[in-house]
Amino acid sequence: MNTMTMREFDSAKREPRARAAAEVNVEEPFNVEEMFFSRTDKRGVIEAYNSIFIRVSGFSSEELKGAPHKLIRHSDMPKGVFWLLWNGLESGVPVGAYVKNKTKDGRYYWVFALATPVEGGHLSMRIKPTSPQLALVEQLYRDIRKLELEEKLSAEDSARLILSKLAELGFDSYGAFQAHALHQEFEARRKALGMPAYNDLRNTETIAVTSEKLRHELDELTKKFKGAELLTANMKIFAAKLAVGRATINEIAKNYDLMLNDIRNHLNTLVVPLMGSGIWDAPKELSAYFMICASHLMTEMCEFFESQKSGVPGVDCESEKDYLIGLQKAYDKQSQKAVEYGVQSAASIQRRAEFLRRMVLGLSTIRIACRVEAGMLRGKAKGLETIVSRLDVFHDEIEAHLETIQQHVSTILLSADDFA
Ligand SMILES: Cc1cc2nc3c(=O)[nH]c(=O)nc-3n(C[C@H](O)[C@H](O)[C@H](O)COP(=O)(O)O)c2cc1C
Repeated sequence: MNTMTMREFDSAKREPRARAAAEVNVEEPFNVEEMFFSRTDKRGVIEAYNSIFIRVSGFSSEELKGAPHKLIRHSDMPKGVFWLLWNGLESGVPVGAYVKNKTKDGRYYWVFALATPVEGGHLSMRIKPTSPQLALVEQLYRDIRKLELEEKLSAEDSARLILSKLAELGFDSYGAFQAHALHQEFEARRKALGMPAYNDLRNTETIAVTSEKLRHELDELTKKFKGAELLTANMKIFAAKLAVGRATINEIAKNYDLMLNDIRNHLNTLVVPLMGSGIWDAPKELSAYFMICASHLMTEMCEFFESQKSGVPGVDCESEKDYLIGLQKAYDKQSQKAVEYGVQSAASIQRRAEFLRRMVLGLSTIRIACRVEAGMLRGKAKGLETIVSRLDVFHDEIEAHLETIQQHVSTILLSADDFA
């Protein structure tokens, strides 16, 4: 029996002592600045929480403590979301998810939850979702839940369906979606509370947007070099028809081809793979957003918890504070690592782009040899001028791409400097 089935088995045995009333379509309000958390053991049995969780859920401290977290499960929630939650936690990664919960009197409230494995279990911090993304997710969950019930899908199949719907929306993995969603919610909340923008997020945004442009530029360059094969092929066809100068033009075309091949190989090393293909993989820049937002939110959560001096029945606040501070430090470390990765890859692209520039210079020398030959054969090799001017256009385009790549790399390195 794997850990997942053990948990399900365990959870099924543990029915909550308290029960919520029948669901009513009424929202339970809470304020944007209010943050709450709960900490569970490895099976999802609640061990600790803050006072906002008690107030919003409507359950007493006695009812919450020792109860499985499904106590507040709302029937509108697709089970695939929980499959993803547990899959992430059991893989040791933080999971961000929109969750519709049920209060004791059957009302509902939406949260954006960030759950992370901690010593002995898991901790989930929650904020009020305020970004337009929530409406999208509500619709997505409605569609998935309907299918889940109609087609009696397993939790895993429902999770697969969620992943395929997210892919249609442009998210290649759940990791990419949760990073985007947390960033959106973080920014919407910050604006709603009138808080100033964070410098590290602004810099990360510049790095993310510029890295995307850099990738696009490198793709375009790769396509251009691929297209250049046609130029040398034409040159060889042309040479074959020549009475004079055939060997020279052929030699030039061959050398140009060899150099093109070297450049193409070098370009392949420049195009860094964007991400792995697992559920939790995400582009590095998105991971940086995720961790930076998580770190800021956890700092706020610590302060918020600290400010609620009245204490929480049944909870050792000092030891909970240690859990929160520990998580904040872990997020902080992860965000620094993600940012450093972005900076290192920009620096490495810069070095390799410089090498590429030198190779292109070598290619340009061969082009000049071709132009000289065309001049010497004037009249005897009609059409060679056309090939030479096509080569000129090709080289101008390559130069323009290299220039743009250089600008992007400089922008990334400047933003990275601003972090320090
Ligand atoms: C730290 C943590 C927080 C959780 N928070 C919630 C929550 O807010 N709402 C919820 O329905 N389930 C939450 N769960 C998931 C539940 O344990 C459970 O998987 C879910 O309610 C579905 O229950 P079921 O699979 O038994 O139907 C949480 C689990 C963990 C580990």
